[in-house]
Parts: sequence; C-alpha cells; structure tokens
Amino acid sequence: MKIVILDGAHNKQGMTLKLVAKFIDGFKAAKSDVQIVTHDLLNEDIKFCRGCEKCVQDKDPVSAKCVIEDDSEKIKQDALESDVVVFATPIYEYCVSSVMKKFLERCLTLVTFRMGITSRAKAIKGKVGVIICSSGAPFPFNHLMGITRYPKFALRLTSKLFRCDKVEMLMAGGMAMSAKMQAKWENKAYKLGQKVARK
Ligand SMILES: Cc1cc2nc3c(=O)[nH]c(=O)nc-3n(C[C@H](O)[C@H](O)[C@H](O)COP(=O)(O)O)c2cc1C
Repeated sequence: MKIVILDGAHNKQGMTLKLVAKFIDGFKAAKSDVQIVTHDLLNEDIKFCRGCEKCVQDKDPVSAKCVIEDDSEKIKQDALESDVVVFATPIYEYCVSSVMKKFLERCLTLVTFRMGITSRAKAIKGKVGVIICSSGAPFPFNHLMGITRYPKFALRLTSKLFRCDKVEMLMAGGMAMSAKMQAKWENKAYKLGQKVARK
C-alpha cells in the first residue's frame, strides 16, 4: 500500500505536520506494510501555472500534458498511482497555503470540462483522499466563520481528480492555544490514520 503526502506546510515544525505524523503513526499501528512518499511542495520545483490553458485542449483520458517542465508532473503521477493521498495544509487567509494553492492550479491537467468540472480519470474503488488542515481559530468558530469553506471545497475536488472515491477530513483548529487542545487533535489524527488503514 502506498501513501503519498502532499505537504503544503510552510512551517515544517508546525501543527499541520504534527497532525500528519500522528496520522501516519495511527495508520502504521493498524497496517505496517506501507510505503510513504512525501512531497514537500515548498521545496520541490513547482512553478506557477502560466494560464495558457493548453492542457485543457489535450485529449489524454488521465492527465493532460503541461507545457511547463518541473517536478509537478512527477508529483501528480505519484499521487495518481497511490492508494491514499494526503493533502496537508495550514489555513492561511481563509484559504489553503500559497504553496498548496500553486500546486492545485497545476492540477488543471487532471480536469475535464466535458460535463461541468470533472476528473479526467475514473475514481478507483477504495482510494482515499485525506485532507488535514490546521487553523488558528478553534472549532466550531473555524467552521462558523467560513474559514474552512474554501479548503474543504478545493481539496475535496482535487481528491476526486486524483481518483479518490472517498474523502476524509480533519479540520483542526486552535492547536497552539493549549497542550490539551494539541493532544486532542493529534489523537483525532491518530484515529483517522487507523480508520483509513482498516478500509
Ligand atoms: C499568513 C498566515 C495567515 C493565517 N490565516 C489564518 C486564517 O485566515 N484563519 C485562521 O483561523 N488562522 C489563520 N492563521 C493561523 C494558522 O492557520 C495556524 O497557526 C495554523 O496552525 C498554522 O499551521 P502550522 O502550525 O502547520 O504552520 C494564519 C497564519 C499565518 C502565518
């Protein structure tokens, strides 16, 4: 089993990656036979989409060709071939992090507009997209204030583009407020790892 982690954290000592680590601990506790590949979106070579929309004309059924040469095609290929894709991002300005957003824009190659906005490739039965976000605002204020709205929408859609037929979400909030709060969310991440491994 292969898990691809798309790490959109800017702070590599921050809460988002603490949650990812707990998720992986939980996963491994339930299933040890797992290959984990992490793509650090901040430090890999991912250029900005130029908006040429050449990919939109491409007829490839899975992934269109992008005119830009960088690491993004390799990252997307890895995520397309995995069993689980983890999207990890802090919430910045009511949105995903800017490196995650930059990567999502490059995922236009996976979209078709034939029937609304849909995935080029068909979903794979049992493939899971896991969305892990951390906001400064605690639950339920992060939801009530609309802070989680765009990240949920965009990452759910992108999970589908990577052929996931199930999506799990962990929208942590206010982890830096206290050790108790941090432990609560880390425990949820661990349990989510176990749940996904048992699917
Ligand atoms: C530039 C920036 C923008 C932020 N914007 C928001 C926001 O809109 N809403 C919110 O609840 N928290 C916001 N925060 C707080 C972070 O979401 C929070 O500290 C989160 O835990 C950061 O994750 P990290 O520790 O993995 O870096 C922001 C933080 C930064 C640095």
